[in-house]
Amino acid sequence: MTSVVLREMRWWDLPPVLALERSLFPDDAWSEGMFWSELAHCRGPRRSRRYLVAEDADGRLAGYGGLAAGGGTGDIQTIAAAPDRWGSGVGSRLLAELLSAATGFGCREVLLEVRVDNLRAQRLYRRFGFEPIGFRRGYYQPGNVDALVMRRADPADEQGTTIHG
Ligand SMILES: CC(C)(COP(=O)(O)OP(=O)(O)OC[C@H]1O[C@@H](n2cnc3c(N)ncnc32)[C@H](O)[C@@H]1OP(=O)(O)O)[C@@H](O)C(=O)NCCC(=O)NCCS
Repeated sequence: MTSVVLREMRWWDLPPVLALERSLFPDDAWSEGMFWSELAHCRGPRRSRRYLVAEDADGRLAGYGGLAAGGGTGDIQTIAAAPDRWGSGVGSRLLAELLSAATGFGCREVLLEVRVDNLRAQRLYRRFGFEPIGFRRGYYQPGNVDALVMRRADPADEQGTTIHG
């Protein structure tokens, strides 16, 4: 397996990011404007987003992911790996880094939505301690597919509960 490097997503990464986004989410891909608006919140003293790309040694995009933070809650906004890299740890690397960003933003919990039929992604999330907490009916359009909402409490909080509970 060739190694990948994670770094902050910048606007000049958007062409390959959008190409991968459109190939992985053909029905409900984010627009370029949506990515621009997320990246606008990634810098500065009031930043509330962390967006990452994973890159091969030759600079090819291997994956990307993003987190939004606010009010002590983090939200995994998007996470994706290039299909020829699936199963090689790119998704795990991105998720680990986004969770560490959530801690940096002071988040006490992290939430996400995932299609009920996306078992591969759900396995990844469960491995990182996310647990199902509910459904959003018809969240994904078109197709009217439900979203499973998953939550990961800050592990430090969980530990505190065990010790003091
Ligand atoms: C979901 C997704 C991001 C996972 O990315 P990934 O890079 O395949 O994830 P990982 O490789 O870290 O983990 C996947 C599996 O590979 C295994 N794996 C990890 N590193 C590995 C390695 N070096 N060699 C072999 N297998 C490995 C993991 O154990 C894991 O197994 P599991 O599914 O049984 O838990 C990817 O499948 C994807 O982009 N899907 C399409 C977009 C999508 O659905 N995004 C989520 C929207 S909510």
